[in-house]
Amino acid sequence: MTNKGLTFREVVRLRKSCRGFLPEPISKDMINAVLEDAQLAPSNCNLQPWLTHIVSGDKLKELSDAITRAHRDNSFTPDFTFDEKDFYGEYIDRAKAQGKVYYESLGVARGDAEGRKVAAEKNLIFFGAPHVALLFMPSFGDNVRIGGDIGMYGQTFLLSLTDHGLAGIPQTFLGMFANTIREVLGISSEFKMMFGISFGYADPNAVSNIIKMGRDPISNNVTFHQ
Ligand SMILES: Cc1cc2nc3c(=O)[nH]c(=O)nc-3n(C[C@H](O)[C@H](O)[C@H](O)COP(=O)(O)O)c2cc1C
Repeated sequence: MTNKGLTFREVVRLRKSCRGFLPEPISKDMINAVLEDAQLAPSNCNLQPWLTHIVSGDKLKELSDAITRAHRDNSFTPDFTFDEKDFYGEYIDRAKAQGKVYYESLGVARGDAEGRKVAAEKNLIFFGAPHVALLFMPSFGDNVRIGGDIGMYGQTFLLSLTDHGLAGIPQTFLGMFANTIREVLGISSEFKMMFGISFGYADPNAVSNIIKMGRDPISNNVTFHQ
């Protein structure tokens, strides 16, 4: 038995985004167990539209080098738009609060653009994780439904990591280099990428792992009708 025997409540509350990993790889059996859990995610018409590429070892280093180069060359090739300038109102506030907590945990000052850049670039080395799961999908219409399915899969994957005593972080940042990733891994342009999940064992000494993001009370977003 590879899981930790946590209750559902414990798993949901323990999961958080990890931004500092130990280099120690995870056994193939445990990765397979997480993949088997994620496979049970629901999807529109049971399409199961997730095509998961797990990258580890030398290939992970090759991928990291390639996306780091693409980043330095400003060679951004996202399959889907993501622009923080589109946020408004409370969404700007929440995004700002998240950035503040993260950068403060790293000791990066508010106006320190270089420090922020270095912190953001940790995405490109997968925050030190020994593995990344890159979630590809077919493209249908405006892709919103399929995107939702990928989100269901991603969250099941993340909860399973927690259940196995592991940690992960979903990364839209990786999706900014979709063409580079497809090239390195030999993936057809037919398949699109929304985000990846770096995963491994959490580094208990990483300062970036001290933070725990809060949530609004449910009264802010739930409306009951009867
Ligand atoms: C689809 C998705 C993409 C994300 N992309 C990134 C990313 O590229 N880099 C990053 O540091 N965090 C990323 N995050 C993590 C969020 O910042 C994090 O989930 C949020 O602040 C809540 O914190 P928690 O996951 O610890 O509860 C992403 C989260 C999701 C769900």
